[in-house]
Amino acid sequence: MMKIFSVKVRSFSETIFCFLAFSLVGYANLDFTRHVNVFQGTAGGGNRFPGVVAAPFAMVKLGPDVKSGTADAYSGYLPNGNVWGYSLMHESGTGGAPKYGVVSQMPVIGDLPNPLVDLSQPRASPDEGNIGYYKSSLANGIVIELTATEHAGLYKYSFPSNSSGPSIVVDVSHVLPSFRGLGWEQHYSYGDFNFFEDGHYEGSGTYDNGWNLSPNWNIYFCGRFTQQPVTTKTFKGSGTTLASYDTTSSISGNERVGGVFTFKDSSVISRVGISYISTEKACQNLDNEIPEQTDFQNLVGKARNKWNTEVFSKIQISSENSSDHDLLYSSLLGMFMIPSNLTGENPDWSSPEPYYSDIFTLWDTHRCHTALFQIVQPEAYEEFIRSLIDIWRFDGFMPDARSSNYNGRVQGGSNADNVLADAYVKGVRGSINWDDGFSAMVTDAEVVPPNNHDPKAPDSSTKEGRGALPDWLKYGYNTPTFTRAVSRAVEYSTNDFGLYQVANGLGKIDEAERYLNRSRNWRNHWNPAASSNGHSGFVVPRRANGSFIPQDPLSCGGCYWGDAYYEDNPWVYSLNALHDVYTMKKWIGGDEKFVDRIDKLWELGIFNAGNEPSFASPYLYNFVKGKQHRSVERSRQIGKLYNAGERGLPGNSDAGAMEANILWQMIGLYPITGQTTFLILSPWFPELTINLGNGKRLTITTTGGNKDSAFYVQSLKVNDEPWTKSWISFEEIFSNGATLSFVLGSDPVDWATGDLPPSPSSGDQ
Ligand SMILES: *[C@@H]1O[C@H](CO)[C@@H](O)[C@H](O)[C@H]1NC(C)=O
Ligand SMILES: *[C@@H]1O[C@H](CO)[C@@H](O)[C@H](O)[C@H]1NC(C)=O
Ligand SMILES: *[C@@H]1O[C@H](CO)[C@@H](O)[C@H](O)[C@H]1NC(C)=O
Ligand SMILES: *[C@@H]1O[C@H](CO)[C@@H](O)[C@H](O)[C@H]1NC(C)=O
Ligand SMILES: *[C@@H]1O[C@H](CO)[C@@H](O)[C@H](O)[C@H]1NC(C)=O
Repeated sequence: MMKIFSVKVRSFSETIFCFLAFSLVGYANLDFTRHVNVFQGTAGGGNRFPGVVAAPFAMVKLGPDVKSGTADAYSGYLPNGNVWGYSLMHESGTGGAPKYGVVSQMPVIGDLPNPLVDLSQPRASPDEGNIGYYKSSLANGIVIELTATEHAGLYKYSFPSNSSGPSIVVDVSHVLPSFRGLGWEQHYSYGDFNFFEDGHYEGSGTYDNGWNLSPNWNIYFCGRFTQQPVTTKTFKGSGTTLASYDTTSSISGNERVGGVFTFKDSSVISRVGISYISTEKACQNLDNEIPEQTDFQNLVGKARNKWNTEVFSKIQISSENSSDHDLLYSSLLGMFMIPSNLTGENPDWSSPEPYYSDIFTLWDTHRCHTALFQIVQPEAYEEFIRSLIDIWRFDGFMPDARSSNYNGRVQGGSNADNVLADAYVKGVRGSINWDDGFSAMVTDAEVVPPNNHDPKAPDSSTKEGRGALPDWLKYGYNTPTFTRAVSRAVEYSTNDFGLYQVANGLGKIDEAERYLNRSRNWRNHWNPAASSNGHSGFVVPRRANGSFIPQDPLSCGGCYWGDAYYEDNPWVYSLNALHDVYTMKKWIGGDEKFVDRIDKLWELGIFNAGNEPSFASPYLYNFVKGKQHRSVERSRQIGKLYNAGERGLPGNSDAGAMEANILWQMIGLYPITGQTTFLILSPWFPELTINLGNGKRLTITTTGGNKDSAFYVQSLKVNDEPWTKSWISFEEIFSNGATLSFVLGSDPVDWATGDLPPSPSSGDQ
């Protein structure tokens, strides 16, 4: 698939290169899109979305919806199976259960006595795509090409010339199903569909549920065709049983509703706009962004232009190896498809603040994605932070996850706190109201969110906030009254550390002291007697009377919603207090034991590069003198798990969290969220430049070695001055730009002899 894909795409990109050369300025006048495989991470559990996303954070994500037995198609796409529609809304890289897959069209040929039957088609060949462009060839000979803008999509259909009755079916009940049986499947509940004499159609659909357990939400649409249909019909029915199918122009109800447009031409173009606000707004979005006569290639070129200037040109490398370029730019694409910028499309309140949704989830992205989001897309990042705070203003709590304009679900802590802290300590100000930002964080830290009675975790809210807060406030730890008690406690500590950081910056002395103290509460779960594989001291469940509950540190029960630990075991969570590393180190038994504890994550087969709780663990060697090279070795091991192919991600993309992780490995740094600290690893390329805006750059060079065999750091200079610490702070490299000059070699050298990284909550140790 990669081969077919790259040959086609390269010739295609040349045809639009002229357009790009004229429209881009300065050092952005390069086309990086030929290095992008939009199919990266779309198979093998990556769940990435390969369809058209016309700009970073575009609301419209236009692509195929595929059926393959009972496999969930999280982003709509699966490499194998039949296509049953092409819809305008998707998430990218998520797990849990599919969300969206709404506002679709499906082309068919031949007589269509019943549009409610299965109209899906196998593909004649693998789908193809690149930035701004997607193509499917169906077994029945229909070819579908797609391009899009932020709020609208363009469909170009080529029907086989021998076919009779080329038709396009718009089924409002179309929504991605889930077969997992976990209660997270979406439902369609209401549709409204109308066609007009000029051949266009308008309407809306109502859906609920999905992983975030959302109540009913509406989406409005407006579709136009370049050709006048020869016949237009509406239909209504249940299952595959038709109740009506005729030329009535308006139809609505709780049953399946929609329309069938039949054409005489073998080439049909359709334009469809969407909106959360109204059908009028959907038409307006369409006519503003894709007016009649819009040239298909022109839209493709615009999408490429946007991705090149706004994202890809921000990071440039020198490398002879095209796999490096492919991995870099394909991963950058994966990072910026969600959240969606829905500014102007918020159906729930009006406000001068920006509005972003499709946060899926901060539990995944706070670890290293948001830190890179800030650097690559500073304007959008500031808007995103403002939007988190505005959601608190109007909904009462910031989201940990949010889709269809509804908060949910919360897997651990209230991790928006970490994201705000990270932005605050790195000097993100602009139009952010930080007093409100801190108040939003205090809500997380002090206000028990109303229980949403989630069957998977009935004890407390999974919608937002910190459900286990009653225990956290009363005991300084979470008792088994609460599900996920231990993993939530570790995250609440980090969240409270975030409050400390912002309170401290705002000069709120009392609050700073309170939350610094609370950031140490993870320690209250530490049972020094819990032992496993030559190690003792692990975070374990604890009763209200203070006694520890026996716990095998290798076990996490089911690791799921109802268990004491979520998605990982005590070994991993016992290394997760990244604001209090020296306490972890001391309680684990000192340097040597600490190093062995990290090693054991691999020896015992615990480490999972595809799961976020262990993202930072491989680099904690940097907190031990003389051990930075061990972090480098781990970094290289992790690098080998990635490539630009469809199975190129080691786990769910998770809204780009997985891609951000590999990008940090290439850069040779790893961020610690909520602090200005970056742990130093080993950069991959002779030269990598990050364009920081306003003419500032971070340039990272390596000499003397290479990425694959001679990757140990021998020495480092920062702005030509020798650097001997295993870490560096945000201000030193990102605030004004800098040069980092690494010398690499094939054997470890004890170069990092300076101060160890900070551990801000360990002060009393
Ligand atoms: C039309 O032509 C296509 C492509 O040549 C072929 O696959 C298909 O079977 C033909 N369909 C009919 C109805 O003849
Ligand atoms: C390019 O990099 C890839 C991935 O690291 C590696 O497998 C491949 O051997 C490299 N190719 C060359 C020509 O060095
Ligand atoms: C977000 O969307 C709004 C409305 O379309 C737009 O004005 C703003 O520039 C967008 N933000 C970014 C970073 O593109
Ligand atoms: C710190 O927190 C503990 C509970 O973990 C509490 O007993 C103690 O009073 C707190 N100290 C301060 C100064 O707030
Ligand atoms: C706490 O409760 C447990 C379980 O009921 C009991 O076995 C233990 O002895 C109690 N410990 C204390 C210190 O009261």
